[in-house]
Order: sequence, then C-alpha cells, then structure tokens
Amino acid sequence: MNRVEVANQTEESFLTRKKIQKIVDLVLKEEGKDFSGCLSIAVVDAEEIRSLKKRFFHQDVYTDVISFFYGFSDKDDIWGEIIICPSVIKQEARNRGESEEKALSIVLIHGLLHLLGYEDEDAEKAKAMEEKQEILYRLLEEEEEREKLIKRAIQVRAHAYAPYSCFPVGAALLGYNGDIFTGCNVENTSLGLTICAERVAIFKAVSQGIREFKKIAIIGDSSSYCFPCGACRQVLYEFAPQLEVVAAKSDRDYEVVSLSSLLPQAFFLRNDRKE
Ligand code: THU
Repeated sequence: MNRVEVANQTEESFLTRKKIQKIVDLVLKEEGKDFSGCLSIAVVDAEEIRSLKKRFFHQDVYTDVISFFYGFSDKDDIWGEIIICPSVIKQEARNRGESEEKALSIVLIHGLLHLLGYEDEDAEKAKAMEEKQEILYRLLEEEEEREKLIKRAIQVRAHAYAPYSCFPVGAALLGYNGDIFTGCNVENTSLGLTICAERVAIFKAVSQGIREFKKIAIIGDSSSYCFPCGACRQVLYEFAPQLEVVAAKSDRDYEVVSLSSLLPQAFFLRNDRKE
C-alpha cells in the first residue's frame, strides 16, 4: 500500500479515502512503480485551481487537475502532489451525461499518469494517455466487481447448512446482465445428496432465465482459497466456459483464475462449441 495524504477533503466531496487508495495502488502497480515517500492529494475549489493554473502554467482557465512531480530524496518526502477540483469534474461529467464517480476516478488516474511521465500536449500523446486511462479504469471496475462479489459470497455463507462437514461455503455469480446470484452449500444426512454453493448459485440463475456469466466468487473457511470441486467446474462450464473464478479468503485476499484453466480439455457433448 502506497502512502497517500489527502488534504481538504471536506471542502467538496471527492472519492472516499478507500477508493483513492485503491486507485493509487492500482495505477502504481500497473505502471511498475513502487515509491517510498508520500503522495499528496489536495482537494480544492474552482477558483483555487484556476489561480494555481495561472500561477504555475500562465493560463487563466478553470481546470480539473494539476500534478506536480517533486522527485525523491529521503524516505518521508512527498514525491508528488495532485491538486484536484471535484466541482469542475462533476460539472464536466454532468455535461457529458457521465457518472460523477467515474469522472472523478478517471481524472485521478489522469493526474497520476502525469506524475509518472505521461504527457498530453499533442494529439498523439493525448490519445495514448486517454487509452491508458481507459484500460486502468476498466481494471479498477474489474477489481471492484470482484470485491463486491466476495462480499456477497461472505454474506450468503452465513446461510450454509453444513452440520456434517462443518465447512460452510458461499458463492456469488455475476451474470452479464449485471445481476448477482448467490448460493451456499446445503448438506444432507445422506451425504451424497449434498449440493455445493456454486451449483446452488448457478441453478438459481438458470431457473430465473439467466445463462450468461462473467465471474464467480467463492469463499470457504477463510484460511485457504476455496476452488470449485470437479463437479461444479463441469456445471459452470456448461454455461460459462470463459468464466472468471475468484477464490477468496477475504475481499482483500483472493486469487483469480479462469475456469478453463481449472478444467482443461473439458468434456462437452457437442464438439463444435465455440469458446
Ligand atoms: N463445497 C462447496 O460448497 N463448494 C466447493 O467448492 C467445495 C465444497 C461444500 C460441499 C460440502 O458441503 C462441504 O463443502 C465439504 O465438502
């Protein structure tokens, strides 16, 4: 976790501290940077960012973000500063009909990329930077999706009926339509009749008319990653050969693998199936 200091956050509402940290960690990790020292983020109003833009860049305009890279010396130094103006960003988002949270996240990513040497002075560089921003934003969305699924899996695990194994499991399956289907294991005194959490989740979804799935999160007893059993792999494969499997210990500690890597050369009756 990179050290981040946020100043004036109450001035105007920006992103939560947790989200800021997540974005900083993601961008630095993806760009292969690991800085000691501290990144400072200052939240300012429109007039303040305008006067900073005038003072440091000699342009009398309102802007959304300004980045200053200070470089490194001692461990505790501030290596960079991002000045961000939520009111300008929110106004721009409203004009474009975009979500404020998305716009705020992308501008923070933009400010971070500037600190890492990206420039947008000419059209070509600006395009490359914009593409990078989009990629990083999509990675952020994926990460948030996984965490949301894990939280739902943890919740549903509380309903597991597992008096025989004492191993409660929760699963949360994300459909391409955005719906989440949850399941827990339900055991039976005739042990073979037990059904796993993953199959409960997918059977619920299919019975509600949903057959296309993006991700599944699974959590067992939190001390080890719980990957789906062989039977569940085959059942999941039936509907979602491209499924992403998130085996979790917690919403911060998880492994991501593809279903196809868990079930290589899977059996499927029709051999003309497209993957
Ligand atoms: N179980 C699941 O629900 N999902 C898995 O991926 C592995 C196993 C359940 C079945 C049984 O109730 C208990 O865990 C112990 O095998």
